[in-house]
Amino acid sequence: MKLLRIDSSARKNSVSRQLTQKFVETWRKQNPTGEVIDRDLATTHLPHITDEWMLAAHSDLAKLTPAQRETLSISDALVDELLAADTIVIGAPMYNLTISAPLKAWIDQIVRVGRTVLWGPTGTEGVLQGKKVVVLTSRGGSFRPGTPTAQYDHQEPYLRHILGFIGLNDVTFIHAENQKPGELAEPSRAAAFEQLQQAAAAANTSAAAPELHL
Ligand SMILES: Cc1cc2nc3c(=O)[nH]c(=O)nc-3n(C[C@H](O)[C@H](O)[C@H](O)COP(=O)(O)O)c2cc1C
Repeated sequence: MKLLRIDSSARKNSVSRQLTQKFVETWRKQNPTGEVIDRDLATTHLPHITDEWMLAAHSDLAKLTPAQRETLSISDALVDELLAADTIVIGAPMYNLTISAPLKAWIDQIVRVGRTVLWGPTGTEGVLQGKKVVVLTSRGGSFRPGTPTAQYDHQEPYLRHILGFIGLNDVTFIHAENQKPGELAEPSRAAAFEQLQQAAAAANTSAAAPELHL
C-alpha cells in the first residue's frame, strides 16, 4: 500500500502539517510495510504552466520532442506519484478563502489530458478512480454548512470539483476550523485529530477501481 502525503502550508509548524503528520502516523501503524511518499509543496518549487507547457501537454505524447519531454518532466513525475498512490492525504491551509498558491500550482501540473483526464464519447472521464483522498484543512474562521459564512468557502467546493474531474471522487474533508487565536481553536483541532484517525484507519479498505468505459 502507498500513501501520498501532500503539504501546502507556508508555515513549518502549521496546523495542517500537524494533521497530515498524525494521519501518516496512524496509517503507518495499520500499514507497517506500506510506503509513504512525502510531497512538500513549500519546498518543491513548482513553475507556473507556460505556453510551451500547454503545447506539449496537448500534443501526441508519443511524438514529443526531447525539449517538450523536459517541459513536462515535473508534471509527469507528480502524475506518476498520484498514479502509484492508493491513498492521498492533502494538508490544505485556507488562504484568502481558498487553497494556497503552491497547492494550486500542483493542481495545474497534475490535471493533464491524456494522463489524468481522458476524452470519451460522453465527455471527459477522470483516470484516478478507486483511490481514497482525505483533505485536512485548517482555517482561521468557520465556514460550516448552514452558517452565513458557508458561502465564502471557496476551498472545499473547489477541491471537490477539481479532484472529481480527474477521477478522485472518494474524498473526505476534515476541517480544523477557528484556528485564529482564541478558545475555539484547541477543541476544533482536537475534533479534527479524532476524525482523521478514523479516516486513516478506514483508508486501508480500498475499493476496487471501476473500469473506465471510453
Ligand atoms: C495569507 C493567509 C491568508 C489567510 N486567509 C484566511 C481566510 O481567508 N479565511 C480564514 O478563515 N483564515 C485565513 N487564514 C488563516 C489560516 O487559514 C490559518 O492560520 C490556518 O491555520 C493556516 O493553516 P496552517 O496552520 O496549516 O498554515 C489566512 C492565513 C494566511 C497566512
